Amino acid sequence: MLVFGIETSCDETGVALYDAQAGRLLAHALHSQSTLHEAYGGVVPELASRDHVRRLVPLARTVFERSGRSPAEVDAVAYTEGPGLAGALLVGAGFARAFALARGVPAIGVHHLEAHLLSPLLANPALAFPYLALLVSGGHTLLVRADAVGRYRLLGETLDDAAGEAFDKTAKLLGLGYPGGPALAALAREGRPGAVHLPRPMLTSRDLDFSFSGLKTAVMTLVRAHPGAGRQFRADVAREFEEAVVEVLAGKCLAALEATGLDRLVVAGGVGANRRLRETLAAAAARGGFAVHWPEPELCTDNGAMVAHAGALRLQAGLEPRAPGSAFTVRPRWELASR
Ligand code: KG4
Ligand code: ZN
Repeated sequence: MLVFGIETSCDETGVALYDAQAGRLLAHALHSQSTLHEAYGGVVPELASRDHVRRLVPLARTVFERSGRSPAEVDAVAYTEGPGLAGALLVGAGFARAFALARGVPAIGVHHLEAHLLSPLLANPALAFPYLALLVSGGHTLLVRADAVGRYRLLGETLDDAAGEAFDKTAKLLGLGYPGGPALAALAREGRPGAVHLPRPMLTSRDLDFSFSGLKTAVMTLVRAHPGAGRQFRADVAREFEEAVVEVLAGKCLAALEATGLDRLVVAGGVGANRRLRETLAAAAARGGFAVHWPEPELCTDNGAMVAHAGALRLQAGLEPRAPGSAFTVRPRWELASR
């Protein structure tokens, strides 16, 4: 069973072909729009939609060429139905539905976060349910208990900014480009530990929720109190900021593992590419007797492979109709729990 996957929820156009029988990703292609939005310091929705229109067909051609398969061999099309930017989602949904209708195959609307939280299974199909998933991206920060494909329970989430959003906004305060996460992490490597101090928001709150907007404000206050400070100061702030976010994320993961009794942790989403987070969780796992799984770094950020894969798992689990249909919606706001 060959599944064609399409991701267009935000500023990445992702396309992939996944062989569900073999459990193997055959090809995936990605175009990141980050340079398009860089000048604006964030994603401009209309520019994002128009660029998805330009990129989809050439990327689709690329994955068929790379995999040596033809569109006639596709058994199902999976696309991101939400959450995300309405216009951007519509481009992917329209393309996917048109393709499916033309080929007479089913089209599966995938929840973007479900695709992220199942993505570590792409590299490691033996990973078993139930597991705890930490989803940390530019738009979301949540802890989910995954019991099976399609069965998820929200344990905690951010009350304000997402972790990636906090990285991006803080990077902007430090004069770094967009997206700020990787740039801030690179600068943090030059920072001295403990040179400045930032809070660890909600680390000791008794719930599994997060809050990152106060941290960004604390950085703003610190930067304003040191006008004209040089690169070393900015590196020290970057290091302390990264440390604070990582400590809170890791602390909440440990609390959630303890509360649920689970012994497997999956980390997904763009911030999951952060090296310090990986090192900290790997060390905690070694000490705490739990296993931690990651998607390959290139599949941490948005991509078509995770969408094709999630669609295939939903089809195999009998959660999707196998008949082709023509009606479709997009869901810019969509709770994972209502999946
Ligand atoms: O999952 P993703 O590609 O898109 C969303 O669905 O949001 O995540 C993008 C986010 C951005 O905020 C970016 O700054 C952050 O992930 N990010 C990182 C790193 N790489 C990407 N944050 C911290 N460290 C990184 N190495
Ligand atoms: Zn994402």
